[in-house]
Amino acid sequence: MAIVGAGPSGVLLSQLLHRAGVDCIVLERHTRDYVERRIRAGLLEWTTVELLQQAGVGERMMREGLVHEGILMAFDGRVHRIDLARLSGRRVLVYGQTEIQHDLDEVATGRVVWGAGEVRIHGIDTPRPQVTYERDGATQTIDCEFIAGCDGYHGICRASIPAGRITEYERVYPFGWLGILADVPPVNEELIYVNHPRGFALCSMRSRTRSRYYVQCPLEDRVEDWPDERIWEELAARLPATVAARLVTGPSIEKSIAPLRSFVVEPMRFGRLFLAGDAAHTVPPTGAKGLNLAAADVRVLSEVLIEYYHEGSERRLDEYSQRALARVWKATRFSWWLTTLMHRFSDDALARKLQLAELEYLAQSEAASKAVAENYSGLPF
Ligand code: FAD
Ligand code: DHB
Repeated sequence: MAIVGAGPSGVLLSQLLHRAGVDCIVLERHTRDYVERRIRAGLLEWTTVELLQQAGVGERMMREGLVHEGILMAFDGRVHRIDLARLSGRRVLVYGQTEIQHDLDEVATGRVVWGAGEVRIHGIDTPRPQVTYERDGATQTIDCEFIAGCDGYHGICRASIPAGRITEYERVYPFGWLGILADVPPVNEELIYVNHPRGFALCSMRSRTRSRYYVQCPLEDRVEDWPDERIWEELAARLPATVAARLVTGPSIEKSIAPLRSFVVEPMRFGRLFLAGDAAHTVPPTGAKGLNLAAADVRVLSEVLIEYYHEGSERRLDEYSQRALARVWKATRFSWWLTTLMHRFSDDALARKLQLAELEYLAQSEAASKAVAENYSGLPF
């Protein structure tokens, strides 16, 4: 197996295959240090937690991760708690993607080629595909049986599929998320998702001493437009007054602006190439599904590949795309819905009234809250 991309999907897939005795190599264009420093996701569904344990990288995660049993939704001066544990029977874990990446890289040492240039895939519609890459000025060639495209939204694997053989579904949202990471205690023990006339805000965390906050911002904004002071002021303005009063501010460790998009490709396979994670689908971050979906793909893909290598049956390989997409579309729907409910899209007064009506309904209806809890904590396999 050749795996392109050493983000969480690529390294996790290699680890699960390696543990089952399947020979694989991962090619990553960036350095290990660069990949481990990218601040991204922070919230794991329990199925993701279990998969990481199965991969043998659960020990530090279970020691340092924070188990959460609920989330808060703030709107119109009110706060509604979704009791995930009671309504869905499941909990979630706060543990940063940077930490998962580090834990995976530690066990994958020797299987990942960091800094591989000009990675190209060849012969994906033949039984003997190849991957070529540049290292120290020389072209290297890998002969393999299958290729896993785990190279993210901007990767080369999906782009190598001939036109017309896959269908892409895409929506780009008219705003971004400005994120700030700071070594200050979180404003609240549980995450708070905020709908405010000034725009969406999210209070998250990485530990009891490290906070991660996001505010919706115009797509054209640059990080330089947002000195720390301005971010803290904007965040405080969007939080309920009682919460804002507790906000502890401090210097940022990291700041970034992320665009929001819903994107799915069908099918997630072409010949001997399997796509997994962000290479096959991207969700807006609201609802924290991106990393969890990547892990879910890897779970299914590792299962069918291991079965193929142990029993020689190609039948299950043919099921990969359909099985993965069944979960992908449900998470894509939930992320789109939560994004639509919580963000300011325009000055349209009717749209705002409809959001408030839906949030009020959510706060009053056990059934509606249960639907959120089930989707947020992760649908069962
Ligand atoms: P990636 O993490 O994108 O990894 C792909 C890897 O492939 C990269 O290391 C890349 O360098 C490498 N690569 C690309 N092209 C090539 C090439 N040509 N040759 C070799 N290597 C290549 N998800 C959540 O669940 N919750 C969140 O809070 C959240 N926040 C996010 C914030 C940001 C700013 C971003 C960008 C994403 C966020 N996500 C979040 C999404 C989540 O981080 C992704 O879903 C997850 O990283 C997907 O993992 P992946 O391994 O599929 O792709
Ligand atoms: C985080 C990001 C999210 O998109 C989310 O829904 C929850 C948490 C985070 O980065 O901590």
